[in-house]
Amino acid sequence: MTTATPEAEAASETHTPITVTLKILRFNPEVDEEPHWESYDVPAQPTDRVLNLLFHVKDYLDGTFAFRRSCAHGVCGSDAMQINGINRLACKVLLKDLLEKNGKRTEITIAPIKGLTTLKDLYVDMDPFFEAYRAIKPYLITYGNEPTRERIQSQADRDRFDDTTKCILCACCTSSCPVYWNDGSYFGPAAIVNAHRFIFDSRDDGAEERLDILNDGEGVWRCRTTFNCTDACPRGIQVTKAIQEVKRALLFKRV
Ligand code: SF4
Ligand code: SF4
Ligand code: FES
Repeated sequence: MTTATPEAEAASETHTPITVTLKILRFNPEVDEEPHWESYDVPAQPTDRVLNLLFHVKDYLDGTFAFRRSCAHGVCGSDAMQINGINRLACKVLLKDLLEKNGKRTEITIAPIKGLTTLKDLYVDMDPFFEAYRAIKPYLITYGNEPTRERIQSQADRDRFDDTTKCILCACCTSSCPVYWNDGSYFGPAAIVNAHRFIFDSRDDGAEERLDILNDGEGVWRCRTTFNCTDACPRGIQVTKAIQEVKRALLFKRV
């Protein structure tokens, strides 16, 4: 994320109101043949989040504007979008980090995430994304008798998959992946991250079946290690590293 300029910091401290032009890629399937850009002037404070500006457009300028959001605190993962061309959560991006050098008026572009069909404005069809997620069996699998006491796990064992437990299924990673853009049948990084979370869990017995699933033509071998996914993740998950660990487990047939 860009660092705030001194001017933006100053504006932020004095709560100087500014006007921001939001350039939003709009699409209404009922009337539009193609998406088109529309611009909105929005009054704002440098400490506002991009989500606040989107609410202003919807509440005061155009009630037909459609976008997903829920928690507004970086937890639910529903407001992923391209902000100035980079996948971000609108509720986690502060305006002051996007301001131009003079800290005054600025233009911000907002577009839906790529690789998933746009249904309306910033709404994309998440079904293929969640189908890939479900396909890797994102739940604990155990066989044999039910244990009579708690399944104990050492701190070291827990550390093996700690990073991938942080995923909030926002799709920032998958929709920044060039392989996924070109062929949506690739499972995509988010599905692999969630497979990793269970494959490396010492309490789980389903690693082999998940690895089999990810070993097929649409699985981990499609990844070209471009790191777009790691750069895009708002949770700071080392996505490409997790994918590499899954590849290694397949190569050496060992978790
Ligand atoms: S590292 Fe792999 S999964 Fe991540 S963006 Fe690049 S090709 Fe896609
Ligand atoms: S790995 Fe990161 S970017 Fe990908 S879905 Fe999970 S939280 Fe979002
Ligand atoms: S609205 Fe929930 S993560 Fe942004």
